[in-house]
This record gives sequence, C-alpha cells and structure tokens, in this order.
Amino acid sequence: MLTLEYDQSIHLQSQVNEQTNKYNIRHPRRNKMSSYVYYNPNGYNPGTGIYASSQIFTGNWENELEALNFTPKGKTTDEHVNAADVDKHFDGEDVRYLFNSFKSEDGLSTTTEIADFWEEENPANFSYTNSYYNSPKLAAIIDWFQCEKTRCRIFQQQPHTTLDIHTDFDNQRGNEHGETLRIFVQLNDMPGGAWFRFKTEDTEVSINLQKGQFLIFNPDYTGHGTENITDIPRNTFMLVVKRNEWIDNLVGDKNMKFIDINEVVANQNEVIAA
Ligand SMILES: [Fe+2]
Repeated sequence: MLTLEYDQSIHLQSQVNEQTNKYNIRHPRRNKMSSYVYYNPNGYNPGTGIYASSQIFTGNWENELEALNFTPKGKTTDEHVNAADVDKHFDGEDVRYLFNSFKSEDGLSTTTEIADFWEEENPANFSYTNSYYNSPKLAAIIDWFQCEKTRCRIFQQQPHTTLDIHTDFDNQRGNEHGETLRIFVQLNDMPGGAWFRFKTEDTEVSINLQKGQFLIFNPDYTGHGTENITDIPRNTFMLVVKRNEWIDNLVGDKNMKFIDINEVVANQNEVIAA
C-alpha cells in the first residue's frame, strides 16, 4: 500500500496493480474507490514518427568543418525536381544551402545527387570521399551509426533562411534494399535558435537541437523543414540510411547518453599505432 500526501489535510490511499497498470485510489471526501490507468506509449515508430535522440555526440570537430569547401547542390536528372530546387533556393542565383559530401555515388565530395533521381539508392553503389578520410572526428560520427548508408552529406543552411515543410520520394523509388530513413546530426550550436520543423499524422513539432544531437525519420511520410533565424550557418549531417534492428533499438535509454568523439578517435589512433 502506497500513501500519497497531496495537501495538509487530505491523505490519499492508493495501490498500483503492476499487471494491469491500474492505479486504484480511495478519496476520503468522496469515500469511493476510483481506477486510473498508467498508459505505456509505444514510442518511436520509424515508419511514421520522429526520433530526437537521447544520445549526444560531444567533441571538438570545428577545425574539420572549417577545412571543408561547401558547394551548391548538384542538379538531379529530373527537370521538374531541378525547377523545384530553384524554388527552394538550393540552386540558381540565390543559393541558401551549401553541401559537402562524405559519401557519394562517384566518391567526390562535390557530388550531392544520384545518377538516376527515380532509382532506389543501393548502399553498394556509394563510396566515401576525401572529406570523410580527411575528417576523422566527423567520420567517427558517421561510423557510429551501425546501418547501411547511401548519401552522407553536410547540409549547410545559410543565416536567415527557411526550407518549408515538405516530404520526399526516397521510399517511393523502391524498397528492394530496405526502408530508407534520414538521420540529421546537428554539428554546431545555434545560439538564438535554428529549427527543424516536422509534421506527422498526429504531431507538429519545431526542434532546436543541441550540438551533437540527432533526429531520425522517414522522409516520405514525415513532413520536414528547417528554419535558421540566426546570423551564422548551421551545419547538419544528412545521412540517407537503411532501417535495421540497430536503429529500431536506439530508443528507450533511461537517461541522456554522451558519446565522446575525441575519445573514439584517440582510441582508433591507439589501435592503428599498436
Ligand atoms: Fe527533404
């Protein structure tokens, strides 16, 4: 029997049945038993929901970001999509988003698109670029995710720019190689706020991530957009990945967990030296 005190004069006597999650309570004034239920929500559904991580990468990778050259998004093989990219300011005269690829179809850091826009991305067709090999801390962040990856890019959103909430076609191109998810990793702190905005069947959220925190979602079914209201660019890893058990099991940490990337790289160097 558990006794809860909720003010100076009234005591509640209560009992929780762990089998049914029912919380039975007798209220002395009303003098009757009432039942309340502890609900147990399922949590993240990778097909339709959003995972805002309880894992956070820590470390100093600013020198690696500064050494990278960022270029505008490449053209796709579809004219309609290219026209939409101009509307979104990915392309044309007013470029508000720059990129650097860590994994691309031809292994170049300037290649951001795929050879056939309407074909499913096959992880076997993608190679790591010089940016990946020259940036051990940023590469360690990519490697931490134990899943198959296709395009891995840094998306650099310029100050005072917005990308409206929209959905994409990744899974509608095919699922022969598995369900496609996106992972966004925030790579710098954004004082004053830079937002990831989402719409699902039952949720609308605007999230200002901490440096090192990440999001996972399915880009076909989860509406996503970004807004940078600060005076500095925001660097975000955009990883295109295939869903697997490892991703499904990321959820459920009781506490926030911190992953020291400097330490991961130092340990790798020790193994190499040994
Ligand atoms: Fe998108």
